Amino acid sequence: MKGVVLAGGKGSRLYPLTRVTNKHLLPVYDRPMIFYPIQTLVDAGIRDIIIVTGGQNSGDFLRLLSNGKDFNLHRIHYTYQEGEGGIADALRLAEPFVEGEKICVVLGDNIIENNIIGAKEAFEKQSAGAHILLKEVEDPERFGCPEIVNGKILGIEEKPKAPKSNYAVTGIYFYDATVFEKIGKTKVSWRNELEITDVNNMYLAEKSLTHSVLDGWWTDAGTFESLLHATKLVADTGANKTPGRGPAPRHTRAAD
Ligand code: DAU
Repeated sequence: MKGVVLAGGKGSRLYPLTRVTNKHLLPVYDRPMIFYPIQTLVDAGIRDIIIVTGGQNSGDFLRLLSNGKDFNLHRIHYTYQEGEGGIADALRLAEPFVEGEKICVVLGDNIIENNIIGAKEAFEKQSAGAHILLKEVEDPERFGCPEIVNGKILGIEEKPKAPKSNYAVTGIYFYDATVFEKIGKTKVSWRNELEITDVNNMYLAEKSLTHSVLDGWWTDAGTFESLLHATKLVADTGANKTPGRGPAPRHTRAAD
C-alpha cells in the first residue's frame, strides 16, 4: 500500500498566518504540522509516500523534509497542485505514483492520538472499494458527516446545516485504484472544489464503502480554534502513540 499526504490549498481560514507560508509548515507544539500525517503513514508501515504540495512555498517542503530522514525513510515523492481545486483535485495528481496499488490518503492537517495499523491491515484484506474512519465530534457541521442507520452509512453530506449524526468523516481514507476514475466523474461543488465526499458517496453507491471508528483523539488543525486545540492535545498527551507503549519519542529540544 502506498501513502498520499495532501498539503495543498490556501489555508485561508488561517490568514494572516498563512499569507507567506503553507499551513502545513506551521508548528503544532514541537513539530511542523506536516510531520503528523507523515508519521501516521509510517507508523502504519507505509513507507512509499507522496506529498501533494501547492502555493508559493512548495520548495520549503523539500528543505524541511528532504528524503524523509526524520522518519527513517529513504526518499519522499513530491508533486504540485496548481490552484486550490479541492481535496479530490489534489489526490488525482498522485495517480502516476500509485500505479494501480491501494492507497492510504491522509489530509495534511489531520492529527491522531494513536495509529491506524488495524484499519490498514483490514483494508489490505478487503478485496476492493474504500474504507473511511469516523470519529464522534461536537461540531459535525464542520466536516463530512455520515447518516448512519443500524450501523450502515446511508449517505455522507459535506458541511451539512442539519447534521444527521454526531460523526465526522476524518481525513484518513483508504482507496483502491478506481478512486481516480471516480474523481474524474466528480463535478465542482458550491465551494468551487472537487469534493472527496462525492468520491466517498460513489463508493457507497457501489456498496463498496466500509467504515470503522477511530480510537483515541482526532483533530484537524485548519482553523485558529482547531490549531490551538491540536497544539494542546499534542502537548498534553502526545500524538501518534502506539497504545500500551506510551508516547511516541519526541525531538529533543535545546532547553530540555
Ligand atoms: O478534516 C476532515 C475533513 O476534511 C472532512 O471531514 C471533510 O469531508 C473534507 O472535505 C475536509 O474538510 P475541510 O473543509 O476541513 O478541508 P480543507 O479545505 O481544510 O482541506 C483539508 C486538507 O486537504 C488541507 O489541509 C490540504 C488538503 N487540500 C485541500 C484543498 C482545498 C489540498 O491538498 N488541496 C486543496 O485544494
